Amino acid sequence: MLKRISSMVVTAVMAVTIIGCSGDDPKSDPTPTPTPTPTPTPTPTPTPTPTPTPVSGYNEQYRPQIHFTPAKNWMNDPNGMVFFDGTYHLFYQYNPLGNDWGNMSWGHATSTDLVHWKEQAVALMRDDLGDIFSGSCVIDKDNTAGFGANAMVALYTSAGDGKQQQSIAYSTDGGVNFTRFSGNPVIRNNDDNLRDPKVFWHADTKQWVMALAKGMAKGIDFYTSPDLKSWTHQSKFFTQLSGLSGMDNVQWECPDLLQFGNKWVLIVSVNPGGPVLGSGTMYFVGQFDGKEFKADALDYPLWLDYGMDNYAGVSWSNTGDRKMMIGWMNNWSYAGAVPCSPWRSAMTLPRELRLTEHAGKPLLCNAVVSEIDKIAGQWQTVSTEALPLDAAKSAYQLRLNISMDKNSTITLSNGNDEKFVIEITASSRVLAVKRTAATGKSFGTFSVPSMRAPLNVDGDKVAIDLFVDQSSVEIFTQDGAMAMTNLVFPNSIYDALTVSGATYEAQVRSLTRIW
Ligand code: FRU
Repeated sequence: MLKRISSMVVTAVMAVTIIGCSGDDPKSDPTPTPTPTPTPTPTPTPTPTPTPTPVSGYNEQYRPQIHFTPAKNWMNDPNGMVFFDGTYHLFYQYNPLGNDWGNMSWGHATSTDLVHWKEQAVALMRDDLGDIFSGSCVIDKDNTAGFGANAMVALYTSAGDGKQQQSIAYSTDGGVNFTRFSGNPVIRNNDDNLRDPKVFWHADTKQWVMALAKGMAKGIDFYTSPDLKSWTHQSKFFTQLSGLSGMDNVQWECPDLLQFGNKWVLIVSVNPGGPVLGSGTMYFVGQFDGKEFKADALDYPLWLDYGMDNYAGVSWSNTGDRKMMIGWMNNWSYAGAVPCSPWRSAMTLPRELRLTEHAGKPLLCNAVVSEIDKIAGQWQTVSTEALPLDAAKSAYQLRLNISMDKNSTITLSNGNDEKFVIEITASSRVLAVKRTAATGKSFGTFSVPSMRAPLNVDGDKVAIDLFVDQSSVEIFTQDGAMAMTNLVFPNSIYDALTVSGATYEAQVRSLTRIW
């Protein structure tokens, strides 16, 4: 275990080298031991880019067909997701000038159905206060900030000169143009361990609440505000994570706090230190009184996703009772080396969150949003190895019902003899995936011999859904009780299925490309 943890730290450092970060990159110092403060590299302020025109027909090798990707250039965390006036907004960490991490700005895409996305002009370019790191957007219905009723207010981290401070900008035209607030930063800070503001309106105490991640200093700070401009620190949440000594060296990033009935769930991304290796997303269940989050006594970390590639996910704001999130489908352990060009990185499929229980413990389920039906063809029974897919074969959903009286092996493959193998152990009810060079192209730390996840469902049969795209496989058990998201780079999409061991039924439906 210790060996694995130290190699995680090394790979995180390597990843930083590969992506060529400037001095204020949060991942440039993955260990808490004092390291020389790197000199921040001033990055030239780029001139605004016009609305991007796709540089391709989104047809390149490995180009996701049902997941959002920018037409070109580097993307990481989803930011500022908000629903307003019939439109879902997805902002994201974006380098307008290249296919590596740098010049961090907020890219922007919109959708009316969470499935089809249209890339828009870059919303916020880096400025004199530094890079525009991750953050959130709210709709200020009651004009608490004085920018106008229903102003869309973006809250983000200004990262520059070794400092991470919080700033705001607002849009009164539905997210097309943003004006920076003249009083930025609204939360001043002198170090690079305070970032990724996630803000929501707390109805009981009638105030805004901000969760801020403390990076290498670990933990989540909570602030409150009457007007989105003046913020008061209220509390810090931190809990020791049991059984993972290496968790001492992780960075806490990208928090989100959500209410489900009488419980609150705090979502936090950690890097490195995920369920397998590198980046992962954990959650805590407890209470929040408007000022302080107190976690129930459970065995943490609890993982939102058991794969390698779901990071920095947070929820859409202003969606009423529905809680939907999207994650960055990548991992800092190798993100800079992912073999995609002229773009790099995709988002996960959007997921709807529900808090349930399994085996007497709370369970945060995340299942693909039902809007996916919009691009789905008819269910077809799978009766031969070759999957009955529509001619384009761009992507598909496979549903398996597997009996749990025997172990089984599910193999997806293609004509190039590339394979993605899932093993289910009936007695322990565990699903395991090997992502090795057998799956397709492998590079750096990409190959992972074993990822294991609890099925989190009871019963004699288990329903498993697989969403397969050109360069990813997302696995879910019933209603998202377990999620496992992984990138893969086969030469062509896996289009054949074999299942050995237990008895099963299989159905597939093609998913039409979103571009
Ligand atoms: C998470 C993260 C955030 C930060 C952003 C910088 O992946 O490190 O903490 O705001 O990426 O791009």
